[in-house]
This record gives sequence, structure tokens and C-alpha cells, in this order.
Amino acid sequence: MADFFFFFSTTLHLFFLLLLFLFSIITSAITEPPPPPPPPPSSCQNKCGSLPIKYPFGTGFGCGSPRFYPSVSCSSTGDQLIFTTHAGSYPITSISYSTSILTITPTLMSTCSSMHSSPNFGLDWSSPFQLGPSLFILLACQPPTSSLTSKSGNPICDSSYSHLCTSLHTCPTLLSLGLPMFSPINTCCVYSPANLNAKGDLDLKALKCAGYSSVLSLGDIPTDPNRWEYGVALKYNEVGLDNYYNIAMMCEACEKSDGVCGYAPPRNNFVCVCKNGNSSSDCYNLVSNFWSSGSLGVGLGY
Ligand SMILES: *[C@@H]1O[C@H](CO)[C@@H](O)[C@H](O)[C@H]1NC(C)=O
Repeated sequence: MADFFFFFSTTLHLFFLLLLFLFSIITSAITEPPPPPPPPPSSCQNKCGSLPIKYPFGTGFGCGSPRFYPSVSCSSTGDQLIFTTHAGSYPITSISYSTSILTITPTLMSTCSSMHSSPNFGLDWSSPFQLGPSLFILLACQPPTSSLTSKSGNPICDSSYSHLCTSLHTCPTLLSLGLPMFSPINTCCVYSPANLNAKGDLDLKALKCAGYSSVLSLGDIPTDPNRWEYGVALKYNEVGLDNYYNIAMMCEACEKSDGVCGYAPPRNNFVCVCKNGNSSSDCYNLVSNFWSSGSLGVGLGY
């Protein structure tokens, strides 16, 4: 009797467990997943850090012109615009939209206040960027740099700029490149005009130089390398393959209406990214687009 009762209660127990199990499966299938978090107000920003971002640049995928992504994007922290190539990532310090020139300051580039050995600097040939008006100064090369030549046998160091080497060799940071203070300038070379190799690199290893500096301007006291403006200038060309002028015009209207120009995959059609949504023209037309294109508009007409 006791055995039977024990058997019975165990079976009942199992039965309830099974019921409970089935019930939990059914309820979990019926209850809806938690609602997705609301989308951020706008994915494309008109600023990154302190830099104003306008067409053709964008802060990320879908913003600006598709030809400038992923070369240029805003850091995930939103405070630094970054230029990326096969050779590395470089902080962008300024953009001149009127002259189509962007300047970058590679962190491993040398300046008078800090010198480093550097990896090769490089651009991607497929991107719309090329070297702009700045001067590369190769440092700690195997002497004498006057014998450095291009493939065609021409010297690559412009001796008319040797005074820049003289100035830079007064910087005490030269020691960190393994050079003594005021060492002879035959290890220094102003590479002008600079050429990138077939890979798009300023090939320091092939040139047997430990580092480089790049100067944008000599400032008001050209003999004082502490006052020079350092950086690499890059020229960009906006004219793309597809109806560029049309997009430039639509984009101007979009930016005037406080929107940010972008593109939508898969065909990369132009979109104006507005605070309240996306438009195919500008942000003033956002509301009218909604009424005229939605089925709601048709329904209200009747
Ligand atoms: C608006 O367009 C941008 C860029 O294509 C995209 O990232 C974003 O998701 C779009 N927003 C909406 C609400 O469709």
C-alpha cells in the first residue's frame, strides 16, 4: 500500500512537472520580446569633435559620399575624425572645404618636441586622396642622403631646403632617434617632391630612414622648428563617377535645411538625414514627403 502510494505520488509529481514545462514553453512563445530600443535621433552628425563635417565627408557608413567611406570616419567615441589607409590610421586635424585640402597628424610622425622612429606612411591609390602641399623631411637616414636616388637615378633630396634640416637638427629630441645633438645633416633629407611607391607608401624602410617629419608651414619665425606647423596635407578630389553635380546641388539644399547628406544602400541613392527622419530632398520637405507618399495620404483624400 505504501509502495503504491509512493508510486502514485511520484507519477503525479512528474505529471505536474511536465505540465509546468509545457506551460512555460507556451507562454514564452506567446509573450512578445521586449521592444527594441528607440533608434538614435540621427546616425549622421554634422560635427566630429570640434570639426564641422560636411559633404563629401561623413561621420560613418551612410553619411557623406560613399567614395569617402571608410577612408574617413568619426571615432566611436565621437570626438576624433580619423583617416584610415592600408598603412595606418591618422587623426585628421583640419579640413579646408574651399581648397579641398585635409591635414592629418600621424601620431608617429616626428616634430621638434617629439621624435620617433616611424612605420611607413601610406595612402590608398583607390581612395580620392593624394599628397598635398606639405614637405616631408626624412630623418636618421643612412648617410649621406645626397646619394639617395629614385629608380631613374635622380637625387630625391632637395638640397635647396637643407636649411630645414639644419633647423630640425637643433631639436634636443633628436637624441631619441639615436642621433647626437647638432649631428651633421647628412642623415636628413627634404624629400621634395615626395613620391609614393606602387603600394602607395612613403617607404622609409627602402630609403633606410628611421623616421620622418612633415611640415605644413614654417610660421613667422622660419628658423625656429618649435614654431613650425607640422602635419601632412592631402588633396581630395570630389568629382566622382556618377552625377556628382546633381548630388552636390541636392546636398547644398539639404545642408541649408540643417540636414546631413548621406546615401542609402544598396544603390547608394542620395538621402538627406534630418533630425526627424530621412528625406530624398531636404529637411523642409520631410513632412510633405510623408503625407504624399504614404497610404495615409491617399486614405485622407477620400
Ligand atoms: C537615414 O539614413 C542614414 C544614412 O543612410 C541611415 O544610417 C539611417 O538609418 C536612416 N534613418 C532612418 C530613420 O531611416
